[in-house]
Amino acid sequence: AEDGYDLWLRFRPLTGAALAQTETRLGSIAAADTKDIAVAELSRGLSGLLGKPVPVLPDGKVVLGTADDPAIQALGLDLRGLGPDGYVIRSVGDRTIVAGGSRTGLLYGVFHLLRLAQETAPLTALNLREVPKIDRRILNHWDNLDRYVERGYAGQSIWDWHKLPDWQDPRYTDYARANASIGINGTVLNNVNANATILTRPYLEKVAALAAVFRPYGIRVYLTARFSAPKEIGGLPHADPADPAVAAWWKAKADEIYSIIPDFGGFLVKANSEGQPGPQDYGRTHADGANMLADALAPHGGIVMWRAFVYSHETPDDRAKQAYTEFVPLDGKFRDNVLVQVKNGAIDFQPREPFHPLFGAMPKTPLVMEFQITKEYLGFATHLVYLAPMWKEVLDADTFRPKQGSTVAKVVDGSLDGHRLSAMAGVANIGVDRTWSGSHFDQANWYAYGRLAWNHGLSSEVIAREWAAATFGADPALVNPILSMMLPSHQAVVDYMTPLGLHHLMGRGHHYGPAPWLEGGPRADWTSVYYHRATRTGIGFDRTRRGSGAVDQYAPIWADRFDKVKTTPPEFLLWFHHVGWQEKLATGRTLWAELLHRYGQGIETVAGMRRTWDGLKGKVDDARWQQTATFLSIQHKEAQWWRDASVAYWQSIHGLPLPPGEQPPP
Ligand code: GCU
Repeated sequence: AEDGYDLWLRFRPLTGAALAQTETRLGSIAAADTKDIAVAELSRGLSGLLGKPVPVLPDGKVVLGTADDPAIQALGLDLRGLGPDGYVIRSVGDRTIVAGGSRTGLLYGVFHLLRLAQETAPLTALNLREVPKIDRRILNHWDNLDRYVERGYAGQSIWDWHKLPDWQDPRYTDYARANASIGINGTVLNNVNANATILTRPYLEKVAALAAVFRPYGIRVYLTARFSAPKEIGGLPHADPADPAVAAWWKAKADEIYSIIPDFGGFLVKANSEGQPGPQDYGRTHADGANMLADALAPHGGIVMWRAFVYSHETPDDRAKQAYTEFVPLDGKFRDNVLVQVKNGAIDFQPREPFHPLFGAMPKTPLVMEFQITKEYLGFATHLVYLAPMWKEVLDADTFRPKQGSTVAKVVDGSLDGHRLSAMAGVANIGVDRTWSGSHFDQANWYAYGRLAWNHGLSSEVIAREWAAATFGADPALVNPILSMMLPSHQAVVDYMTPLGLHHLMGRGHHYGPAPWLEGGPRADWTSVYYHRATRTGIGFDRTRRGSGAVDQYAPIWADRFDKVKTTPPEFLLWFHHVGWQEKLATGRTLWAELLHRYGQGIETVAGMRRTWDGLKGKVDDARWQQTATFLSIQHKEAQWWRDASVAYWQSIHGLPLPPGEQPPP
C-alpha cells in the first residue's frame, strides 16, 4: 500500500501519450561520467516512469554533463553565469541536454527533468535555464540528541545518534535525495535550544558520517552552537566573548570541526532568548558574540546565522518590538560572514503575521528568512494547511525601504543591498513517521519551502501543481480538486483560529487548541490576554502611535497606514488596533459580526475540502485517501472547536448576543 515514504519521488509508471513521449524523448541516458549520482537518479526515476530499466549508452537520448565536460562544451550552449547550482536543459534535435554548473547543478537539472516527466509536461523544444535566487537553502531541525523533536509532529528525530557513526540508516540517503530534488543544500542538524554535547568529538564524528552521506547530494551540514559550550564542555570558567581564552576555545573547536568535516557550513545560534545563554550574560552585545564565532569560522569559509528571535520578560515593552529595538542599532557591526536570521513575523509563526519590520531595516547585514515548516501554531500534522501562500505573502510584501519595490524577497536574496551571502531557513517538519512529515499533505510544505528558497518568484499554485502531480498523479481530475483544497487552506486556518489579525490565542505549552482566556503564569507574553486585550467594549492590541508605537518600526508609508483603522488591511486590523465590538467595518458588519462571519467561513472552507476529498475516493489509493479523510474530519471538528471556544469566551467578556443568523454552538 502507498504509505507516503516516497514523497514526491514516486515515479509510478506512466501510461498512454505521456508514456510514449517519455519513452521517445528520454528512453536512454548518455553521460560523461557514468558513475555520477545524477545518472543514478535519472535512471532510477525514468525506470520507474517507463516501467523498465533505462539503459546508459554512449549515444543515449538524455545527455548529462557539467560545464567543464568537453562533450558538453562541444555543444556550444551558453553556460555562463550558472554558478555551481545552476543548470540548463535544452532540446537539441532528438536529444535532451542537461548541463550543470557543477555536479550539484547537474543533479538539480536531472530532478527538474524528472519533474517535467512526472507532470507529463511536453518534453520537446525544452529551453530552460535555472539559477537559484538564494545561495543557502537550509533546513533547521529542532531535533534534540535524545531524538525528541521540539515542535515536531512526525515522530522522533530521524538522526539515530546512538547508532552513528557506524550505522548509517538508508533513510539518510533518502532524506538527501528528497532535499536535493527541491534544491535544499544545507541542514542544521540540531535544535536551536542547543546542547553543547553535539560539539564534543564523539558527536562530531557522528555528524561527519552524516555529512559524508549528504555530500554527493550537494548538502552541507551546520550545527547550532550553544553559547555557553566553553563552560560546559571546554572546562572554562565562563563564556565571555571578550575573553581571549574563550575566543581561542571556539577557534580550536572550529579547526577541529573542519579537520573532519572540510565543507562544514557553520553555526546557527539562539542566544539570550527564552533562557538560552548568550553574550548579554556578560554585558556584551549580539554582535560581540556573533563576531567571535565568525572569526573562528572565517579561515575555513564558515558562516554564522545569528537569530533575531529575542524577547525578554524583563522588558515591559510590546514583545513585537523587541527584536527590532535590539538589532537595528547593530546594523553594520557584524563581520561579513555573519547573517542575522529573522522569523517571518515579529511574534512567533502565528497563522498570519505582518512581515517582520527588521526586513529592510538592516541594509548592511544579510538577513536570513526563517520560516516554520512544522505547523506549531497551525494545527500540527492533522490540519491540512498549505503554507506557500503564507510565505509568499511575506516574501512579496514591499518594505518600502528605501523605496517602493523593495520587497522582503529582495532583502533576503541579497539583491537589494548587494550582499554576497543569502540564505533561507525552514524549520523542518521531518520525523520518523512513514510519511516523514506526519501527514501526506504536510509533505507539500517541505516541498514548497525548497522550491521557494530556490525561486521565490514561483507562485503557490505552480508549486502545488508540481507537488500534487508528483505525489498523487498528473491527471487533472486529481490535481485540480487537490489544488482547490490546498490553495484556500491557509486563509481557512487563519479564519477559524485567529481572524482579523488576532494572534497567540492558543493553549500554553502545547500550542494546539484554543485558549483565549489564558492569563497568569510565568510571564505576561505567554498568555493570550496580553495579545487580544479584550474588554467589555473592544478587542485588539493597540500598536499605533497612541499605543505601543510598533507601527513606527515600519517604513513611514506603512507606519501611516497601520496607524489608522481605515487604512490598515483588514487581515491585520486587531494586530494594530483596539477596535470596539460594535464598530462598523468596511464590510458593513460590526466587528463582532465580522469575527463570527470569518469563523464561519473558515469552517465552511474545511467542510468544502472534505467534500472535495470525498469525491476523490477511489481515485486516490485507499491508504492515503483514508488517512487524509480522517485527518480532514479532525480538522473540521477542531475548526468548530476553535470557533465555539472563542465565541463563548468573547461573549463572556462583552455579553453581546450572537448576531442575527448566527447559530449558537450545538
Ligand atoms: C517558539 C517555540 C519554541 C522555540 C522558539 C524558537 O517559541 O515555541 O519551541 O524554541 O520558538 O524559535 O527559538
